[in-house]
Amino acid sequence: MREKLEALLQEAVTELAAIATEEAFHELRVKYLGRKGALTAIMKGVGALPPAERPLIGQVVNSVRDQLEERFDAALATIRNARKAEKLREERLDVTLPGRRRPLGTKHPITLVREEISEIFAGLGFQVAEGPEIELDYYNFEALNFPKDHPARDMQDTFFIGDNLLLRTHTSPVQIRTMLKHAPPVRIIAPGTVYRCDSDATHSPMFHQIEGLMVDKGITFGDLKGVLTIFVNQYFGRGTGVRLRPSFFPFTEPSAEVDIACVICKGKGCRVCKNSGWLEILGAGMVDPEVYRHVHYDPETISGFAFGMGIERIAMLKYGISDMRLLFENDLRFLSQF
Ligand code: PHE
Repeated sequence: MREKLEALLQEAVTELAAIATEEAFHELRVKYLGRKGALTAIMKGVGALPPAERPLIGQVVNSVRDQLEERFDAALATIRNARKAEKLREERLDVTLPGRRRPLGTKHPITLVREEISEIFAGLGFQVAEGPEIELDYYNFEALNFPKDHPARDMQDTFFIGDNLLLRTHTSPVQIRTMLKHAPPVRIIAPGTVYRCDSDATHSPMFHQIEGLMVDKGITFGDLKGVLTIFVNQYFGRGTGVRLRPSFFPFTEPSAEVDIACVICKGKGCRVCKNSGWLEILGAGMVDPEVYRHVHYDPETISGFAFGMGIERIAMLKYGISDMRLLFENDLRFLSQF
């Protein structure tokens, strides 16, 4: 019987060494120490021994049971420690890893260019003015000396909303609204969205302009050229060539179209400037006396100039963008380059 008990202990120790989970542990414990387990089975044989042997065997049984319990307790502790270590390993955090950056947006190139241009004119004392995008015919055309049925209205492919209501085709109506509200001197720029029924690689039905207006005593065409030359030199770089060509707008007289030396070939002639060496960037002129009549200014005592430029066009020239539609497709791969 003693051998049996010792063999049992040996067997249990071997089996315990091979298990790795708590489930297996509990099964094994029942197998050896349970009420119907191996130890109980052997103990049942004690009663059949001669009475003289019983106390001694009883001691052996107790000792084996104690040892079994000890071994089982130790094995359970080992299993639990191993699991804990494994869990810690699984949940390990490397606190030295750099954090995940949240993606940060960038300004749309149109916004960027508008702000940069506005900044330059702010430095020359121009204040920002605004007007509505849904405009009355009167401000968009009539007061700017486009009489009804005047052929110059055809230059602007207007989206009409009603007989007298339209989407403004340019920012020039802000000139009228500003002069009606303020007596001279006036020195404003008016950035804003404008609309024309036109769409291709260099035209969009919705686009942006910046208008400029300066009216005071003694303003001359020289002031116009000076202000625009300062702007061109600051925005496109010192020494950029500026050229004025005669043009026509109903609300300026004389009128000019302003070119800069091609930013790509520096005036030598290339595909972008169609080999002319020049790029048109804006329209300008001295405010026509007829316009002053509508805003109750006295053309005998004051004079002034106005100009208007397309923000998309400036952005395209500045960044070498060949298709205006890229500016409105909102492809982040394109937009995040600026
Ligand atoms: N409003 C004109 C246009 O959109 C530009 C312009 C503005 C011309 C001011 C002269 C003076 O074409």
